[in-house]
Amino acid sequence: MVVRINPSILAADFANFESELQRIASADLVHVDIMDNHFVPNLTFGLTMVERLQQVTPRPLDIHLMIDDPDRWAPGYAEAGAFSVTFHAEAAADPVALARRLRSIGARAGIALKPDTPVEPYLELLAEFDQVLVMTVEPGFGGQSFMESTMPKLGAMRSAIAASGLDVWLQVDGGITEETVVTAAESGADTFVAGSSVFHADNPATAIEILRSAASAHSH
Ligand code: DX5
Ligand code: ZN
Repeated sequence: MVVRINPSILAADFANFESELQRIASADLVHVDIMDNHFVPNLTFGLTMVERLQQVTPRPLDIHLMIDDPDRWAPGYAEAGAFSVTFHAEAAADPVALARRLRSIGARAGIALKPDTPVEPYLELLAEFDQVLVMTVEPGFGGQSFMESTMPKLGAMRSAIAASGLDVWLQVDGGITEETVVTAAESGADTFVAGSSVFHADNPATAIEILRSAASAHSH
């Protein structure tokens, strides 16, 4: 299975995004965490920053919206040209309608689930989404420990994707290291977000390759 490594710029130097993006030129996508200080108790950046980031990296942007009212705000990120826009199931009033809207604008539509949010309601809705993000930490902060308790959800989602025959990417985000990437790959993930383990490494390009080969060796 093809695996993707998406470094999260939440762990980058916020004063030097352009040079930080050059350090992860071998990434598949660039993961951008949008936090509004309401859905999560942390604040990052918004649409203006995303528009500018797109101008300084050739890599596609993987937008992770940790915000209230994504029904209202998510389409703007698609209109800005983001490759992928993922919103939280817990925050969306009408996830299917929002995903359809994102796709109609031309973005991939993703749905994210917090660690305590069950996957079952979404197993039958896979055709509506291009990506499912199973959070492996509580959203809000980088540098937290991987929650192995989320692996059964990942496995259930992988089985449903396989049974559906659809090409839905299955993403994990939070606490991904060269050790936990193996656990997540074995449980069915194919798309791996990594913040600290990439940007805090001496050589981010090497860190990306280590994650990629470990994930490839253990993916389904
Ligand atoms: C957490 C964010 C993650 C975060 C991951 O709310 O969604 O993308 O950057 O950081 P690490 O890899 O350090 O756990
Ligand atoms: Zn994220």
